[in-house]
Amino acid sequence: MINLNVQINASEKKYPIRINNNDIQELYNEVLDITGKNNLFAVISEKVFKLYGNFLNLPKERIFVLKDGEKEKNFKTYQKILTAALKVKLTRNDFIIAVGGGVCGDIAGFAAATYMRGIHLIQIPTTLLACVDSSVGGKTGIDTDFGKNLVGAFYQPDTVLINTNFIKTLDEKQMKTGLGEVVKYAFIENSCKCDEEFNLINFLSLNSEKILSRDNKTLEELIKICISLKKSVVEKDEKEGGLRKILNFGHTYAHAVEKLTKYKKYTHGEAVVKGIEFVFTLAQKMGIIVESYKFIAEDLIKKYNFKKIPDFDIKKIVAEMKLDKKATAESIVLILPTDCAVVKEYQMFDNEILKYFDQN
Ligand code: GLY
Repeated sequence: MINLNVQINASEKKYPIRINNNDIQELYNEVLDITGKNNLFAVISEKVFKLYGNFLNLPKERIFVLKDGEKEKNFKTYQKILTAALKVKLTRNDFIIAVGGGVCGDIAGFAAATYMRGIHLIQIPTTLLACVDSSVGGKTGIDTDFGKNLVGAFYQPDTVLINTNFIKTLDEKQMKTGLGEVVKYAFIENSCKCDEEFNLINFLSLNSEKILSRDNKTLEELIKICISLKKSVVEKDEKEGGLRKILNFGHTYAHAVEKLTKYKKYTHGEAVVKGIEFVFTLAQKMGIIVESYKFIAEDLIKKYNFKKIPDFDIKKIVAEMKLDKKATAESIVLILPTDCAVVKEYQMFDNEILKYFDQN
């Protein structure tokens, strides 16, 4: 049994992230250690509920089984969660437990942030993506017809409990989407200003087979590295005023791909990988990285056999990127590679980007 701990020091809360591979049924005791005699209300992903059952031993009125998929992250489901919590008279001392992937953590986290102006929250991420990204750093929210994550709050959990056994039962698609975010960390590592040095590019390159075969020890180490990098970033910039934007490496392009394909064709992680390839191509065309670094990036990405996404019409992509949350009225915000594992924010006009692709 391995127990790894990372402590996140956010402004309004310090909270631990515990990583282990205990028996899943042990999670019940781990939760009780934190919550004591207070009441619990769990929002559990349907897939996890079917696979692992009611491992928190809760009466059925205290369990909200969340159907899977991004489309569930909406106002209606959010309202249903709050109503179910009100029905069991959850109080401000009680806990919402989010058990699932990113969608589950986001919507349950937003419910916790707003229920009686905020109650306790424990995140139990069960996908690789949620472990390395969405369960850490306090972003919560729901989607609207106008776009993803447009309503939400920064709300830090009391604890994040990661059990790597959940990763074993992920389908290939979910595994790959998490790996897309993992690869992102490799290319931003030196800009995360973390005290520890991991050389994640190397780690991912040397351990691709172990990671793809989901070796427990390697996964634990990998998750710890990614969380340490994320911790370093969010502690310095909790509300995304500056540094935190580097976590969007590859994401501006990815969001455009996801929107153009109506969130149906590619997973988020697959789109992020395509976005990373795009920023490497752009950076090379701009002359801000050497070609050999682009080859290193391409080689690493190849090792993980991501689904190949065809090139999109750059004009359509740029038009979508202009609508991104992070874009300003005049320019598109892009995080570009500038050196090995180093990135920098660039604000670019649409025709400036198009020029590099001979399109204006
Ligand atoms: N997923 C990016 C962030 O948490 O800022």
